[in-house]
Amino acid sequence: MAINRRTLTSALGAASLIGMLPVAALAQKKLVLGFAQVGAESEWRTANTESIKSAAKEAGIELKFSDAQQKQENQIKAIRSYIAQKVDVIAFSPVVETGWDTVLLEAKAAKIPVVLTDRSVNSKDNSLYVTFMGSDFVEEGRKAGRWLTEKMKDQKGDVNIVELQGTVGSAPAIDRKKGFEEIIKADPKFKIIRSQTGDFTRAKGKEVMEAFLKADGKKINVLYAHNDDMAIGAIQAIEEAGMKPATDITIISIDGVKGAFEAMIAGKLNVSVECSPLLGPQLMSAVKDIKAGKTLPKRIVTVESIFPMEVAAKEFPSRKY
Ligand code: AHR
Repeated sequence: MAINRRTLTSALGAASLIGMLPVAALAQKKLVLGFAQVGAESEWRTANTESIKSAAKEAGIELKFSDAQQKQENQIKAIRSYIAQKVDVIAFSPVVETGWDTVLLEAKAAKIPVVLTDRSVNSKDNSLYVTFMGSDFVEEGRKAGRWLTEKMKDQKGDVNIVELQGTVGSAPAIDRKKGFEEIIKADPKFKIIRSQTGDFTRAKGKEVMEAFLKADGKKINVLYAHNDDMAIGAIQAIEEAGMKPATDITIISIDGVKGAFEAMIAGKLNVSVECSPLLGPQLMSAVKDIKAGKTLPKRIVTVESIFPMEVAAKEFPSRKY
C-alpha cells in the first residue's frame, strides 16, 4: 500500500491516542482462580500447595488461595466467597467425597466453571464440574496389594495386616482401602486385623500405631498406611516399642514424598506407591483452556509409579517433592 500524507496522519493519530490510554486498559485482564485447599496435613499437601502457587505465578494467573484445615465447612465457605468475588474459575480438592451438590449448584448458577483437583466428589450430577484431574486412588491401593501379595507369596500361615486409613469419608481413604482389599482377598491368608483412621497426619499415625502395638504387638506382620506421613509416625511408634520397622513389620505406604525416600534409604520403610502432588501446571493450562472455550476431558489421570526400598537411593536425587 502506498503511504500518502492522509494515511500517515491517521496512523500517527491512532498511535498518539493509544499513548494517551492508561497502560492497564491495554494489558490483557488477568484470569482469576479461586483455589480451596484441603489443609496442610501432610508433606504431600505442602508440595501440592507449592505446585499450585508457583504454577499460577508462572502462568500469570491471579490466585486466591484458602486453607480449609481439613474441614468441609471451611471449604464450602471459601467456595461461596469465590462465587461472591466472581472469580473466573474455582478449583478445589474436596476434603470428603459427599455433600457438595448445593454449593456446586450455586457456582453453576453463577456460571463459574469448577475444576476438581486431586480428589473427586461423589455426586450423581457430573455437570457440576468441568474436569477432575488427579491420581487413580483405587489403582494405588491395588499396587500396594500386588506388591504385598508378590512379596509374601511363599509365606506359610496368616499374614496379619494393620491398616492406617486416611481421613474418614475422603476419596483417597475410601479408594485406597478398596483397591488394596480387592487384591489381597484372592488369598485368605492375608487378614486385616485392625483398621483405623490416622487422618493423614504423622501425629495421628503414631498415636494409632501405638494403640495397634499395645493390642497386638508381635502378632502384626504388615502395616498398610494410606500415606507416607502416617507411616513415618508409625515407624516412630514401632521403634519406641523396641521393634525394627521394615524388618519385624513390613511397611507399605502411599505418596512417594522425600520423607518416605529417606525412611526407605534408612531401611525403615519397605515401599511407597507414588501419588504425584505436582498438579499446578496442569491446573493452570485447564484454567486457560476453559476460558478459551476449549472442551476438556472429564477425567485426567496422573501417570504414576511404585518405589520399593531397593531403588530408593538411586531415585532420591531426581525426586521433586
Ligand atoms: O489426596 C491425596 C492425599 O491427601 C495424600 O495421599 C495425602 O498425603 C494427602 O493428605
